[in-house]
Amino acid sequence: MKILVTGGAGFIGSHTCVELLGKGHDLVVMDNFCNSKPEVLDSIKSIAGRDFAFYKTDLRDFRGLSAIFREQKIDAVIHFAGLKAVGESVQKPLAYYDNNIGGTLMLCQVMEEFGCRRMVFSSSATVYGMDNPVPFREEYPTSATNPYGYSKVAIERILSDLSVSDPRWSVSLLRYFNPIGAHPSGLIGEDPSGIPNNLLPYVAQVAAGRLKELSVYGDDYDTPDGTGVRDYIHVVDLALGHLAALDYIMDHNGVQAVNLGTGKGTSVLDIVHAFERACGRPIPCRTAPRRPGDIAVCYADTQKARELFGWEAARDIDQMCADGWNFARRHYGA
Ligand code: NAD
Ligand code: UD1
Repeated sequence: MKILVTGGAGFIGSHTCVELLGKGHDLVVMDNFCNSKPEVLDSIKSIAGRDFAFYKTDLRDFRGLSAIFREQKIDAVIHFAGLKAVGESVQKPLAYYDNNIGGTLMLCQVMEEFGCRRMVFSSSATVYGMDNPVPFREEYPTSATNPYGYSKVAIERILSDLSVSDPRWSVSLLRYFNPIGAHPSGLIGEDPSGIPNNLLPYVAQVAAGRLKELSVYGDDYDTPDGTGVRDYIHVVDLALGHLAALDYIMDHNGVQAVNLGTGKGTSVLDIVHAFERACGRPIPCRTAPRRPGDIAVCYADTQKARELFGWEAARDIDQMCADGWNFARRHYGA
């Protein structure tokens, strides 16, 4: 099968490309490198031992996208390309709506034109908003608190409407929980530019000596140790979830939202301790006020992924931190 991967040079996309190549799929990768580097493509090739087609183009570039579909016989699309920083989305809502929603609309139009109607889309647990009880189940109402989250809610809606309007479409809306870790080779991983917003890249940079200490955002939540609880999932497990979703959409039409998480909650302090075990160094921490927009607890109900895809996450927190540290250590020369 020939798969187009949008945003394939990014964190989750690159790991998914490795697994797709390993499974024998032909790949066409497109990215504009707005949040990634071209060197990642060489790392994917070197891990997988196989080559693939690459197009440097923007999702919103009609000509560029059309050229891909004209030149390649694409069977399905895995659509990662998008902007993902919550805080930045509040500062630049138009850029987020334009890139995420505008880009997806353009992609759907070109797919329609070329008769390719199978898509796996990167959604997020952020669509569960602030008011649902855990574990989050796919049938819960969706909502958002920031432009990034609204872009995911809107795209889910657009892809659902499209599937209703034409039953030839087959779409999987994958709601990721908190992807962390890296490929065990240490060649690809998460490398945010500037000061990281998310917990794991921040902890890794403290361990590597690039940042002084971790601010723990709130220690008075109603959780076992007072710190926020999340469903961290190894990025390789997440990548494998995309292969399972791809198999599913090849045989089933319509639209399905599916959680990709482990179903287990882990606190900020649990993560700090696991990372300390992985790197063998202390992670200095200080308590800071709660971060606006954070919920106390977030974890997935994983039944639907098991039933529909026959998929479940296999790697535990220690493995996630060990692989994350292996990447950070090589990357930052620590
Ligand atoms: P990432 O930023 O590492 O990867 C996204 C890739 O898309 C980058 O390589 C970027 O250069 C590219 N891109 C962005 N806009 C583009 C455009 N208009 N045209 C072409 N390429 C473009 O992010 P990631 O962590 O790999 O996330 C992938 C997807 O998963 C995103 O849609 C994100 O919103 C979603 N997601 C991520 C997380 C997470 O914690 N990482 C959680 C939930 C959902
Ligand atoms: C954040 C985003 C969410 C996005 C998700 C995955 C916000 C408000 N939410 O969620 O929309 O889908 O990332 O990309 O940004 N923490 C600290 N100190 C830090 C960083 C984080 O204590 O320096 C805590 C947080 O309060 C939280 C946990 O660590 O309890 C995880 O934070 P983070 O990695 O940012 O993920 P989310 O909050 O789940």
